Amino acid sequence: MKALILSGGKGSRLYPLTYTNAKQLIPVANKPVLFRVIEAVREAGITDIGIVIGKDENGRRVQEAVGDGQRWQAQITYIPQEAPLGLAHCVLIAREFLGEERFVMFLGDNVIQGGIGGLIREFEDSDYHCQIVLTPVEEPQHYGVAELNPDQSIKRLVEKPREPRSNLALVGIYMFDPHIHQAVRQIKPSWRGELEITDAIQWLVDQGYRVRPYIHRGWWIDTGKPIDMLAANSKVLEELKPYIAGFVDRDSQVDERVTVEAGAEIINSVVRGPTIIGERTRIVNSYIGPFTSIYHDCLIENAEIEHSLVLEHCRIVNVSTRIADSLIGRHVEVRRSELRPRALKLTLGDNSRLGLI
Ligand code: G1P
Repeated sequence: MKALILSGGKGSRLYPLTYTNAKQLIPVANKPVLFRVIEAVREAGITDIGIVIGKDENGRRVQEAVGDGQRWQAQITYIPQEAPLGLAHCVLIAREFLGEERFVMFLGDNVIQGGIGGLIREFEDSDYHCQIVLTPVEEPQHYGVAELNPDQSIKRLVEKPREPRSNLALVGIYMFDPHIHQAVRQIKPSWRGELEITDAIQWLVDQGYRVRPYIHRGWWIDTGKPIDMLAANSKVLEELKPYIAGFVDRDSQVDERVTVEAGAEIINSVVRGPTIIGERTRIVNSYIGPFTSIYHDCLIENAEIEHSLVLEHCRIVNVSTRIADSLIGRHVEVRRSELRPRALKLTLGDNSRLGLI
């Protein structure tokens, strides 16, 4: 089997972070979401991986960060897409890479509990033409939605229906055999101008091909918005096996759910897990609360922060208000200014959001 990972798109709901980085490269629990996806695919025993990237700066960044796949003992082929024209369009342009093999397609910004090993094995051993993953959600209108027959076979799939006929959303993991190549050539772009994979799978159903649902019961997060990134971060942190590879001084309190990566230092601080402190980051006279990931080479001094994601090379110093529910990009500086006038002094990028108290 091969894998096709989709890593294009603009990530506009995560501006300004995604002006200078691909959304799939934003780390949760100090590891880019895309790396977690590649690991899940590798754990399922797949080594031949295609990654669809944008023909833009973010595409180049993905290629640079992932490289040729040696790190995962995988072979990676990049498939550039000129514009985000839909998930079925990705299958269309990956035709040559996919050949006549069965494959799993995985959205590079999705985080799912428990990997995909069991799922892949079920599909490999089956005679299904396609298998989809469904999970109950609260707002199905934002997803592809499946309506099942009483015998659990698929009745109908609709992309972002105004009036959903069930609460079962299509999770961003799909398994196909080569019949999908015919399907993606038969469908027309949707109202949003995209070739929808949901429509291609509906075409398979209409033609009488065997399309089987798999109901996923664990958590699953599509990391489109800042709040989803924080939720994914919390979920992954809860599952992390904590370890201390850095230095914790005797005046600090660090509980057993905290990971301190190599070269990090915790000085006279309180750190409550689940939390991860990245390599070479220094936490000095500070409080770091649960569900926080601080990436590498940061300095947090005389500050309090919880339920947040802080990317590399940030400096948060002498801040008396607690920071919470925040997503802070790379090389950001937040510090008290001693200079008059006493005021908030902001340098915010386009589309930044600041929540005052
Ligand atoms: C895509 C699919 C949708 C699926 C979702 C899962 O939506 O079109 O069917 O439920 O991924 O994340 P999009 O993220 O393109 O809006």
